[in-house]
Amino acid sequence: MPKILVAPSILAADFSNLAGEVRKVESAGADWVHCDIMDGHFVDNISFGPMVVEVVRKQTKLPLDVHLMIEHADHYVPRFVDAGANSITVHVEPEARHDVAKTLQQIRDAGCRAGLTLNPATSFDLLEPFLDKIDMLLVMTVHPGFGGQSFRAGQMEKVKRAAEWNKTRDRKIDIEVDGGINPETARVSIQNGANVLVAGTSIFRSRDYAKTIRDLRGD
Ligand code: DX5
Ligand code: ZN
Repeated sequence: MPKILVAPSILAADFSNLAGEVRKVESAGADWVHCDIMDGHFVDNISFGPMVVEVVRKQTKLPLDVHLMIEHADHYVPRFVDAGANSITVHVEPEARHDVAKTLQQIRDAGCRAGLTLNPATSFDLLEPFLDKIDMLLVMTVHPGFGGQSFRAGQMEKVKRAAEWNKTRDRKIDIEVDGGINPETARVSIQNGANVLVAGTSIFRSRDYAKTIRDLRGD
């Protein structure tokens, strides 16, 4: 059983004290810090950019897990690499308007782990050509754009397919879930094969970050 990793999404953090929140989740036992980048085009919301990732980089040694919900991710990859990203995840949908294989190679050539993700409405089949080019698959369990939405259990089919794919490979990819993850939906996700849990609301709205992180892992 792979180690279960917890990646708090700072989209749900108290931005008036972002540095403190990052330090707080690190001392609470988080494994990664998930940075949700939104451009207002690919998703109907605007969040933050490389400058904020740079601020987070200075506060923690944890790996920064950057999720690009933007168009033309290839154009911005260098800036997130320079800002201190450790992994960069891009969307597979045509609406993301980039050459997926090229962008994944660009991310790896820059020394970052390459992630690929898909929206709930997007078929797993779209991922097939790229699975051997990535280090992590992010299965969106909500439609991207906002925190605090409800988990879509139907997305577990994709988690299962990724876990099946892993069984046929020596080099396993991380399987990450993102959206509506709380201790209950984390358990379902782990049961289906996920090993990385993104959680925003369930951690940052809780009174005890360390307990929530332990509960998410099922410790
Ligand atoms: C949504 C983001 C998610 C979101 C998770 O577009 O990709 O990472 O912040 O938030 P919660 O855990 O609140 O559903
Ligand atoms: Zn995300």
